[in-house]
Amino acid sequence: MAILFSSQSALPFLSLILLAFAYTGSQADARAFFVFGDSLVDNGNNNYLITSARADSPPYGIDYPTHRPTGRFSNGLNIPDIISEHMGTEPTMPYLSPFLKGEKLLVGANFASAGVGILNDTGIQFLNIIRIGKQFEYFQQYQTRVAGLIGAEQTTALVNQALVLMTLGGNDFVNNYYLVPFSARSRQFSLPDYVTYLISEYRKVLRRLYDLGARRVLVTGTGPLGCVPAELAQRSRAGECAVELMRAAGLFNPQLTEMLSSLNTELGADVFVAANTYAMHMDFISNPQAYGFTTSKIACCGQGPYNGLGLCTPLSNLCPNRDLYVFWDPFHPSERANRIIVQQILGGSNTYMHPMNLSTIMALDSRA
Ligand SMILES: *[C@@H]1O[C@H](CO)[C@@H](O)[C@H](O)[C@H]1NC(C)=O
Ligand SMILES: *[C@@H]1O[C@H](CO)[C@@H](O)[C@H](O)[C@H]1NC(C)=O
Repeated sequence: MAILFSSQSALPFLSLILLAFAYTGSQADARAFFVFGDSLVDNGNNNYLITSARADSPPYGIDYPTHRPTGRFSNGLNIPDIISEHMGTEPTMPYLSPFLKGEKLLVGANFASAGVGILNDTGIQFLNIIRIGKQFEYFQQYQTRVAGLIGAEQTTALVNQALVLMTLGGNDFVNNYYLVPFSARSRQFSLPDYVTYLISEYRKVLRRLYDLGARRVLVTGTGPLGCVPAELAQRSRAGECAVELMRAAGLFNPQLTEMLSSLNTELGADVFVAANTYAMHMDFISNPQAYGFTTSKIACCGQGPYNGLGLCTPLSNLCPNRDLYVFWDPFHPSERANRIIVQQILGGSNTYMHPMNLSTIMALDSRA
């Protein structure tokens, strides 16, 4: 009786220890995830900065689990959140969050900042944003902090084995070259020369990311920039996608894919993976009904033609069902559109993911 009693009381104790082991085990085994780039992937860093590029007021976040704004430019989850979901990990926390510390650092971090581009002069109108060079400085600082927790060698392993997402480029057109008529960059460069310049600068940025330890990097191209409600409102006569911005995206994306292949050849490994977000978006822009959307032209939240003018604020028009809209605000996709994009990132054919999709990456890397 006494023995039975003691073994009964020991059992829960043992299973608690096992649980604790399983927990730290899964924390260590889970793949870290790092995110760099602009508003399409910012999880809230700009909330900690003095900038006009922010998503910190309702109705942003209306469909987020907390139903509150988080700084994400979405009604709910954004692309990195949904990737984290598929990896079975917590969403990446903004690096500037004071709550990102201790064990949580091992999940990864989000360094993205709305408004930034490949070039330093992109987004200057937003004042205080984290330009890509600064995002990398924070990434170094992150690695020093993690080394203090798990040691330098383990930190290098964690970074080398991590998945990285990089989203840049759209703002270099929308918030630089085409920001105002006769912008400084458009006087300096013809569009094809500007794209060549962007790609050569982007190559340096990605090479730096490799030097900082990244070994598996998803790089998204720009979406069809001329088709977003903001551009339809400002540049379109009858709802057709704005020609100049489509030309820009049409030049930029194929050259990006080519540059990534050439970097991979130089590095002797498939480090960089091109996600053709242009084609992914175009599918539901050209046939929204096929994907269960009622419109790909009108933003859910905004005002003016196509709800494409100004910002999404508590005073804006707001659609009742966000799932029926491709665009949440004048520039950013709805959670449901983001989910379809991540489906393609995961399982898309070579047209969408080059040289391979994320399912293949996860299968390959788990074997390594
Ligand atoms: C952007 O700024 C960073 C840091 O100030 C600098 O190292 C880099 O060379 C600049 N890039 C360009 C293209 O001027
Ligand atoms: C992409 O992923 C799916 C699994 O979801 C796989 O069946 C398919 O073959 C992959 N496609 C390519 C082109 O790698």
